[in-house]
Amino acid sequence: MADNRESMASTADLAEAAAACRDLAELEQLRVHWLGKKGMLTVEMQRLGSLDPETRRSVGAGLNRKKTAVQAVLDARRQELQQEHLDRRIRSETVDVTLPGRSGGKGNLHPIRQTLVWIETYFRQMGFEVADGPEIEDDYHNFTALNIPEDHPARAMHDTFYLEGGQVLRTHTSPVQIRYLETHEPPLRMIATGRVYRRDSDLTHTPMFHQVEGLYLDTSASFADLRGLLADFLQSFFGQSDLSVRFRPSYFPFTEPSAEVDVRCVICQGEGCRVCKQTGWLEVLGCGMVHPAVLDGAGVDQERFTGFAFGLGVERLAMLRNGVNDLRLFFENDLRFLRQFS
Ligand code: PHE
Repeated sequence: MADNRESMASTADLAEAAAACRDLAELEQLRVHWLGKKGMLTVEMQRLGSLDPETRRSVGAGLNRKKTAVQAVLDARRQELQQEHLDRRIRSETVDVTLPGRSGGKGNLHPIRQTLVWIETYFRQMGFEVADGPEIEDDYHNFTALNIPEDHPARAMHDTFYLEGGQVLRTHTSPVQIRYLETHEPPLRMIATGRVYRRDSDLTHTPMFHQVEGLYLDTSASFADLRGLLADFLQSFFGQSDLSVRFRPSYFPFTEPSAEVDVRCVICQGEGCRVCKQTGWLEVLGCGMVHPAVLDGAGVDQERFTGFAFGLGVERLAMLRNGVNDLRLFFENDLRFLRQFS
């Protein structure tokens, strides 16, 4: 029950209390406190009944004025709060056109694709055409035409995936040389890039990997041209113009003479480390002068044209250039790994 002092509480106190209300719910509590069924004014109104008529009239008139004043204060504050609420909502719902846009995450090329693009760009600038061939090959293009007959021990060099009907998943990109020679006449310069497959899987081998093949036939193509081109390619690729490159005699059935090419270890600069197995050198590609048997099969006039070919593993080059130590990382599609190449 409101005591006497409270019942006399001025509308100035009310105005202060109303101003302190932070939302409509608090204001409603204040209204109930003053005008509700058990509110201060209501209770005083009820008391009028016990007064004598003379007093009742004057006290009643005073109470009515006070009630009107209270109502006015509450109404005013209600309007204010409603306006504030509306303002807040409008502010929160407006679009600030001056904010920078939120872009939907930009992707980047896979590091292997980036490496392929780099290699293709380099050889295009050197006048090479980029060619393509099937990943499912026949025995003839993958082996026989490359001077690897059926019973030749070199077939064991490639752990081949055989398909039904005698076809194979190509074990290298060299068959594209043969296909290209079927439709093009020398002089010519071509590279072919793509996936190749071998039954092999460990830290440095995956059953699928990428190769780049190169073929160069001309009237005066020599081993010196081969050497110059590949040395320049490797020095450009690793961004070291003084990078040492060494050619080691080797064997491929489709080239003669053949060589494997090493670069001075780009990880330890030749000091000897785990990556170069303490040798100071890294083997990066295979090459040689195209074997007469291959040119014969392709119907190339060997009195006029000679040439060279080379093949390299893209993953290996990408690993060395980017300091990646596990080949399999390229194929796990872990975004944390891939984003480092954006
Ligand atoms: N095809 C060979 C390989 O996969 C690489 C190579 C290509 C060697 C062309 C010489 C000439 O190992």
